[in-house]
Amino acid sequence: MSAVANPTRAAREDTPRSPQAGAPVVRLHDVHKSFGALKVLDGVSLDVGPGEVAAIIGQSGSGKSTALRCINALETIQQGTIHVCGHAIHDPQLDRRALRRDVGIVFQSYNLFPHLTAEQNIMLAPTCVKGMTKAQARELAREVLSHVGLAEKAEHYPEQLSGGQQQRVAIARSLAMRPKLMLFDEVTSALDPQLTGEVLKVMENLAREGMTMILVTHEMAFARKVASKVVYMHRGRVWETGTGAMLDDPQTPELRAFIGNGL
Ligand SMILES: Nc1ncnc2c1ncn2[C@@H]1O[C@H](COP(=O)(O)OP(=O)(O)O)[C@@H](O)[C@H]1O
Ligand SMILES: [Mg+2]
Repeated sequence: MSAVANPTRAAREDTPRSPQAGAPVVRLHDVHKSFGALKVLDGVSLDVGPGEVAAIIGQSGSGKSTALRCINALETIQQGTIHVCGHAIHDPQLDRRALRRDVGIVFQSYNLFPHLTAEQNIMLAPTCVKGMTKAQARELAREVLSHVGLAEKAEHYPEQLSGGQQQRVAIARSLAMRPKLMLFDEVTSALDPQLTGEVLKVMENLAREGMTMILVTHEMAFARKVASKVVYMHRGRVWETGTGAMLDDPQTPELRAFIGNGL
């Protein structure tokens, strides 16, 4: 379907997408992580399959961001295993550059370079990391910007864009690397409701196109509607997991209290 809608995509793809339909894109098994004496992940196991959208919810400090950072090898773990797009993250020999090509991550802060236009921000990695020519990278930047509804903002600087638009540029920048997996850590938390809506819309479209995604979010309505798997973390553990319907029928007092406070 996407090949018809976007015929240039297959031609540009320099690594084939995972052919093992059904094999998990992400698998955490009994992951333990401490910062000094503080245990932050206490035996986390989680599978995310191709095209799945997993929403991680939970109180502040429950280990959500740390879990995402471990998945992307931004933190090392003390025990357990993590496999992501065929990479063994726990392996000291991990090829981080190869991992970075497969996994995109977007944070609450957009981290755009203020002295570069939207388009130039997006062109940076394809030219520096993938060795694209400027012309190729510009064409790619235009394509991913139109994908997030910002075709007309290519030559704007970050300060000329709203927070929601800047976040969409940050998402487009990740998409330009053609990731197999996208991680989102509270990407709408700094935005007001209207701008939140436009960013969530972009994420919902990505989900519909089949992108495998793990997102940490406070947006319960979004989790209920878009996520194929909702993961409630509490004290560094996967406390409860299920489909969006789990939010309507929590099985643990902790999730019940969390939802009660959150809505
Ligand atoms: N780099 C770090 N050094 C020390 N403690 C950290 C570090 N990162 C996170 N923590 C602590 O780990 C716990 C979990 O943090 P985090 O994963 O950010 O939670 P969440 O994203 O669910 O709010 C918190 O108590 C936090 O203070
Ligand atoms: Mg966090």
